[in-house]
Amino acid sequence: MARRLLLIAFTAVAVVAAANASANCTLAADAVTGKAASSQCSACHGFDADEPSRLTGPNLHDTYGSPAGGRSDFGRYSEGVIGARASNVIWTDDALFEYIGNPKAFLNKVNAREVKHSMLFQMNDEQKRREVIAFLKAVKGRPERD
Ligand code: HEC
Repeated sequence: MARRLLLIAFTAVAVVAAANASANCTLAADAVTGKAASSQCSACHGFDADEPSRLTGPNLHDTYGSPAGGRSDFGRYSEGVIGARASNVIWTDDALFEYIGNPKAFLNKVNAREVKHSMLFQMNDEQKRREVIAFLKAVKGRPERD
């Protein structure tokens, strides 16, 4: 009986320790999974600090927390994104979550009218969107993407 109680106590300590360890690593783990999810964006976007924007999409290295339409080396922003910039839209977690899930709906909302937009892609999976946003947050300001 005593041995059994000891075993239960030991298991409880181990479970608490494991929970603490994973809580400490949550952000890094998110960003790592987000890197995998970001492969869906890489067809059009670059993420490296020194990579110029491509014709297919602006570089996203410093996008997190920055104003919409902020890459001066991307000359093809749509009227929707140009309008978002004029309305002082900042790429916060919430704004990114909505935009990546439905660019057209987000840009119509912030412009308060039907506007043209040009990101012909949307990510429906909410978990993957959160992971990609964690990745954007993690790469911001860092010299490398990993
Ligand atoms: C098929 C190409 C394509 C794919 C795939 C794509 N994008 Fe885009 N993205 C664009 C284009 C083009 C724009 C410019 C949109 C505009 O001007 O309306 C854009 C704009 C953006 C912006 C605004 C950037 C700024 O400078 O304000 C963000 C944020 C963004 N994309 C995130 C993503 C993420 C995250 C993914 C993957 C989950 C993704 N995109 C996948 C083409 C793409």
